[in-house]
Amino acid sequence: MCGIVGYVGFREAYPVLIKGLHRLEYRGYDSAGVALVNEKGDLNVYKHRGKVAELERFAESKDIAGHIGIAHTRWATHGEPNDANAHPHYSESENLALIHNGIIENYGLLKEALIQNGFRFRSNTDTEVLVQLIEYVMQTNRCSLLEAVQTALREVIGAYAIAVVEKGNRDRIIAARKSSPLVVGLGNDEYFLASDATPIVEYTDKVVYLNDEEIAVIERGKPLRVVGLNNAEAKFDIKKLSMSISQLEKGGYPHFMLKEIYEQPRTIIDCIRGRVNIDGTHVVLSGVLDNKERFLHAGRIIIVACGTSWHAGLIGEHLIEDLCRIPVEVEYASEFRYRNPVIRPDDVVIAVSQSGETADTLAAVELAKRQGAFIFGICNVVGSSIARATDSGAYIHVGPEIGVASTKAFTGQVTVMTMLALTLAKEKGTIEEERYLEILGHLQKLPSLIGEVLELDEQIKDLSKIFTYCHNFIYLGRGYNYPAALEGALKLKEISYIHAEGYPAAEMKHGPIALIDNEMPVIVIAPSDSIYEKTVSNIQEIKARGGKVIAVISAGDHTVRNIADYCIEVPTVTECLSPILASVPLQLLAYHIAVNKGRDVDQPRNLAKSVTVE
Ligand code: F6R
Repeated sequence: MCGIVGYVGFREAYPVLIKGLHRLEYRGYDSAGVALVNEKGDLNVYKHRGKVAELERFAESKDIAGHIGIAHTRWATHGEPNDANAHPHYSESENLALIHNGIIENYGLLKEALIQNGFRFRSNTDTEVLVQLIEYVMQTNRCSLLEAVQTALREVIGAYAIAVVEKGNRDRIIAARKSSPLVVGLGNDEYFLASDATPIVEYTDKVVYLNDEEIAVIERGKPLRVVGLNNAEAKFDIKKLSMSISQLEKGGYPHFMLKEIYEQPRTIIDCIRGRVNIDGTHVVLSGVLDNKERFLHAGRIIIVACGTSWHAGLIGEHLIEDLCRIPVEVEYASEFRYRNPVIRPDDVVIAVSQSGETADTLAAVELAKRQGAFIFGICNVVGSSIARATDSGAYIHVGPEIGVASTKAFTGQVTVMTMLALTLAKEKGTIEEERYLEILGHLQKLPSLIGEVLELDEQIKDLSKIFTYCHNFIYLGRGYNYPAALEGALKLKEISYIHAEGYPAAEMKHGPIALIDNEMPVIVIAPSDSIYEKTVSNIQEIKARGGKVIAVISAGDHTVRNIADYCIEVPTVTECLSPILASVPLQLLAYHIAVNKGRDVDQPRNLAKSVTVE
């Protein structure tokens, strides 16, 4: 949700900022803008509705000189996506320019008070209130920008990552965060600032992650200072980035999403690496073993997540209950945080989040922590807010996921869930050795099995042409594959804008079956598993009503092949890993349908990769 970039140093700031915005465009692309202080000390703001490319066209003939600047790509919350609501926002006197990611909840009251004091507003955003408030404090208290930022932020309720520059000051950016991420990159005689490390990685691998209510004073020629809202100096650690530039580029694929789908054989290897012993007979998630007592004595496990990560959580529920015999509840983080849930000190809460920044998941973590639960994180982005807020955790190590639709993170999350359940089941003695070795063996074969599924891409592309212009889809699955059906439907709707619903296959007859006619494509995940016959009956029910069935089946299944209209045959794998193999062809199907429809696959409308607002 909104991307922030900043630069101060010896380079021309504009190209650094624009490149950074492109890297952060996945966070929002409703508008983009930049503020630069040139050598004369002029503060120039250029902003435009639409993607970063629109801003570049707009700024072509403008004065874009300067070695210091801040820039923003927006995902609209308050105020429609137009030029006026784009960031940066000037203060009343145009002496300050500010960018913001987050939401200021008490902006209405603050705005009224500022209007009464003669401030005029040019936008409908909550952000403009911040820059005006900072200027108001500077004028009334006759204080420095830093002091004014501290005072203003003490008045503010809500979430923010901000950066401010000042007319006449060619050296300093003030930045602050609360509940929205912010990273400072430390180069030689230069500083970078960004919402995540992706715009920074090509210049330096040294970064500092700001904590809540910390302010960074980033000044050319001076060491970085981090202070609190009360001006107390804060200690900070310099971390080393392990990300590489090639991970951030498309590598010859037309879209990041397709690249990320194709990366899955490798990302599963990276996810498993170092966790399974050389003989392939033992798996250890150290975050679980290091906290063995908490897990072994857990009365219950609660999984909190949103979207695709919530679907991975549902598969986690099956795995943990099935293998470890611990009761599990899976909650939408956004519901959990507001419904006064019962949380006991012997609960273990598992937070699943690719970005590690999802506001609702972070809030659910904080709530459970306050009530004494032990919190375990399953995140992708190293050093992210959720990763830092949890007591322990396991990274999925799938590399940066840039396509807005999550693909490799989902399979990585399910892989970690599987390793977690196996580690715990072994410690608890709830799994027989034979089953343990079977699942572990199949887990290690997953990369090559996914490779086989990817070979079906041409077949799936042909299939996509038949269904591109359908208006509705139903996705069905049972047991471990019900979440895979939900995930398949989510992939299709978010990138093709076709309405799609996922259901447990047997639930069809309780209502949704009324939708079936010969126009309705029904995707049924029907691997040869313990409930195969039941799923076959569900397929018969659909066929009897004229529905078009596209079945994802196990290799060699002639029964469903004879009933279904189209089949996608995936390799046979042990039941608990089947949703991973089933989800890959559904990712490809959604991708090709969206491409056929000419959709913006990597940046679908209204969405953003990292949902840092609730
Ligand atoms: C769907 C998708 C979203 C995210 C959700 C949670 O493709 O990407 O549904 O899964 O916004 O995001 P994270 O996992 O970053 O917490």
